[in-house]
Amino acid sequence: MFLCKMSKSLTILMSLLLLLPSISLAEPHNEGPKVCMECHEAEYDVWKETKHFAAYKDVHKKPKAKEILAAIGGAKSMKKSPVCSTCHYTLVKKKADKPAKAKAGPSCESCHGPSSDWKAVHNEYGSGAKADTETAEHKQQRYSDAKDAGMIWSFMHYELAENCTSCHGLSRDDVEPEILAKLVANGHPANENFEYIAYSQGSVRHRFYPPDVTVNAEMDTIQLSRTYVIGQAAILVSASNGLARATDDKYKLFQQNRFDAAKLALSAITDIPEIKKLLDEPTSENGKKLAEAIKDVDLSKSVAKMLPEKSKYK
Ligand code: HEC
Ligand code: HEC
Ligand code: HEC
Ligand code: HEC
Repeated sequence: MFLCKMSKSLTILMSLLLLLPSISLAEPHNEGPKVCMECHEAEYDVWKETKHFAAYKDVHKKPKAKEILAAIGGAKSMKKSPVCSTCHYTLVKKKADKPAKAKAGPSCESCHGPSSDWKAVHNEYGSGAKADTETAEHKQQRYSDAKDAGMIWSFMHYELAENCTSCHGLSRDDVEPEILAKLVANGHPANENFEYIAYSQGSVRHRFYPPDVTVNAEMDTIQLSRTYVIGQAAILVSASNGLARATDDKYKLFQQNRFDAAKLALSAITDIPEIKKLLDEPTSENGKKLAEAIKDVDLSKSVAKMLPEKSKYK
C-alpha cells in the first residue's frame, strides 16, 4: 500500500520532470566575445590588449595556479574547474542544451551579462526603423527589455562596478563562502587595492560614444569623481556581503580591510544623504539609489583630490 503510493507519486514526479525541458527554464548563457566582435570591433580591439584576454593563455600554467587548484580539488585543470571558471573564464555554449566550455578569459559578457536572451533585443530598433528614426518609446522599451533579459548597459554604472567587485573582491553568492576562504588560505591573491578608477580607466577603458565613435574618450574630472564614488559604494557593499558570509579569519580580515577603506573614502563626502544611508545600510539597492542620486551632480570639489594619478591606472 505504502509502496504503491510511493510509486504513484514517483510516477507523477517523473512525468513532471519530463515536462520540464518543454518549458524554458534555461539560464541565459554566454555566446563568446567573437559573436560581439562582428559589430563591436573597436571594443574587441581594446579587450584584446587587456590582461582579461591574455590571462586565458597562461594563468593555468603558473605554479601558484596548480597549488591553489590542488587545494580546492574537484578538477584536473583550471579550465575544467567550475570554481576557477566562475571568475577566470568565459564559459561559452553553442546552444542552450550544449555543455559550457571555457573559451576565453573574462570577456564582454562577464561584464555586460550573458547575451543569449538579450543579443537579438539590444540593437533592434523596431520594424523599418534605424538608430536615428527609432521612437523614444521603443528605445525605452528596448533598454528595459534587454535589461530584464540580463544585459548590463553602459549607463548602469552601479551594476557594472558591482560586477567587477564580485570577481575582484572574491565576494559572490554563486561560490560557497568556505571555498572563497579556502582560496585565500591557500595563497590566492586577495588584492585590497582594487579601486574602480585605476582599474577601469587604463587598459580596460572602451568609451566609443557619439558624437565621435572613433575616439576612445577619457572621462573628465566630473565623470571621474562620480565614477570613483560609485566604485567605492560597490566595494563597500561587496565587502559587507563578504563579511556577512565569512567563515574564516584570513578571508574576514581581507573583507574588513576592503570595507574600512571604502568607508573612509565615502565618509569624506558629507553633502550627499544617499551616501550616509549607504554607510548605515550597505546594500545593492542603496548603491543603485546613490548612483541615481548623483547622476547629474558635480562631486569634484570633494572627490577630485582622492582620485588616483593616471600613472597608477592599470
Ligand atoms: C548585429 C550587431 C551586434 C552584435 C552581434 C552585438 N551588438 Fe551590441 N550593439 C549593437 C548596436 C547597433 C548597438 C547600439 C544600440 C543602440 O543604439 O542603443 C549595440 C549596443 C551595445 C551595448 C550598449 C552600449 C551602451 O551605450 O550602453 C553594449 C554594452 C553591447 N552592445 C554589447 C554587446 C555584446 C557584449 C555583444 C556580444 C554578446 C554584442 N553587443 C553583440 C550591435 C550589435
Ligand atoms: C571569486 C573569483 C575568483 C575565483 C573563484 C578564483 N579566482 Fe583566481 N583570481 C581572481 C582575481 C580577481 C584575480 C586577480 C587578482 C589581482 O591580482 O588583483 C585572480 C588571480 C589568480 C592568480 C594569480 C594570477 C597572476 O596573474 O599572477 C592565480 C594563480 C589564480 N587566481 C588561481 C585561481 C585558481 C586555481 C582558482 C580555482 C581553484 C581561482 N583562481 C578561482 C578571482 C578568482
Ligand atoms: C571588464 C569589464 C568589461 C569588459 C570585459 C567589456 N566591457 Fe564593455 N563596458 C564596460 C564598462 C564599465 C563600460 C562603461 C564605460 C563608460 O561609460 O565609462 C562599458 C561600455 C561598453 C559599451 C559602450 C561604450 C562604447 O564603447 O560604445 C559597449 C558597446 C561595450 N562596452 C561593449 C563591449 C564589448 C563588445 C566587449 C567585448 C569585446 C566589452 N564591452 C567588454 C565593461 C566591460
Ligand atoms: C568574471 C570575473 C571578472 C570580472 C567581472 C572582472 N574581472 Fe578584472 N580580472 C579578473 C581576473 C581573474 C583577473 C586576473 C587575470 C590574471 O592575472 O590571471 C583580472 C584582471 C584585471 C585587471 C589587470 C590587473 C593587473 O594587475 O594588471 C584589470 C585592470 C581588471 N581586471 C579590471 C576590471 C574591471 C575594471 C572590471 C569591471 C568593469 C573587471 N575587471 C571585471 C576577473 C574579472
